[in-house]
Amino acid sequence: MSLAPGAGGAGAGAGGADAGAGMERQAREIRLHGLVKSFNGPHGPIEAVAGVELEIAVGETVALLGPNGAGKSTTIDMLLGLLEPDAGGVSVFGRSPSDAVAAGAVGAMLQTGSLIRDLTVRELISMMAALYPEPLAVDEVLELTGTSEFAAQRTQKLSGGQTQRVRAAVALVSNPELLVLDEPTVALDVEGRNAFWRVMREFAARGKTILFATHYLEEADAYADRAVLIAHGRIVADGPTNEIKAMVGSRTIRATLPGADLDALAALPGVGGVERRGEAVVLTCSDSDDAIRALLAAYPHARDIEINAAGLEQAFLALTGDDADGSPGAPAGAAPGAASTAGRSA
Ligand SMILES: Nc1ncnc2c1ncn2[C@@H]1O[C@H](COP(=O)(O)OP(=O)(O)OP(=O)(O)O)[C@@H](O)[C@H]1O
Ligand SMILES: [Mg+2]
Repeated sequence: MSLAPGAGGAGAGAGGADAGAGMERQAREIRLHGLVKSFNGPHGPIEAVAGVELEIAVGETVALLGPNGAGKSTTIDMLLGLLEPDAGGVSVFGRSPSDAVAAGAVGAMLQTGSLIRDLTVRELISMMAALYPEPLAVDEVLELTGTSEFAAQRTQKLSGGQTQRVRAAVALVSNPELLVLDEPTVALDVEGRNAFWRVMREFAARGKTILFATHYLEEADAYADRAVLIAHGRIVADGPTNEIKAMVGSRTIRATLPGADLDALAALPGVGGVERRGEAVVLTCSDSDDAIRALLAAYPHARDIEINAAGLEQAFLALTGDDADGSPGAPAGAAPGAASTAGRSA
């Protein structure tokens, strides 16, 4: 399976034949600068995006991670030119978002929106292909996205997961340089997810750029080079996924272990810190797999064992200094820039 005939190569898309003269010398990058967007809410304005600065290099796969209402979709909508920012600007391969999208340089899977009805899947993809200067072959897109089995089905009769695959096909058909995916795997089962990310990996391997929004640290960790954490419309951390994961993804092991020596526990492999809570101990782990094995080997009588992921929600709370429960609407400036890789918390 390949994404495109070799002829187009890395030169297709933004700098290709569709672009105006001189485009190929421009920096082919994605820049979001000082983005601000507010909406009118029932209790006054909601600052959905409050000063996002983000630059993405060609070939990067970036995960935009954040809880519900963080501002991911609003940021993405501005990146795609679907929403006009109140302040700041977006440049996509040196062009405005709408120019880049019209040229087929950007493909998108949005969180909402339905497929055009009364067309078969094949008709829809063919119609979309006809809109762009250098589309992929329709059969190739159908095969790649696992939609060929139901290519003759009308779009309104598809299951949720099938619909999601067709949306992926729509995003890919222009053979874009940049793919923007807003929670793309939400309706997919495990197999569907794996298949989806296989396609995306192949896409990325061609030097293309991917930005995807997700709630899941695991998804970011598995598929992105870089994770950008967003909360309350601000970037609170930005760095290589392994660093972000180490920062936010720690686990704790809790076990009832009366009289255990804390120093000995702290010396176990995979254990970073130890705390006593009554009869129980809580181990903060750098590697919970190693830690649990070592714990059980050294203390076979340990009982009531629980392993907990610190989880993204807790990480966000720590990073943003919010109240427990992640109550929304923290005041502007809530982000203390806690992470070493923290972005700009205006
Ligand atoms: N059209 C709109 N009108 C009013 N408020 C909006 C609108 N769009 C978004 N918001 C508000 O802006 C904030 C950010 O929303 P956004 O959709 O960007 O979050 P998100 O990070 O994509 O969340 P989710 O993970 O739930 O998709 C939320 O408080 C939301 O209620
Ligand atoms: Mg969203």
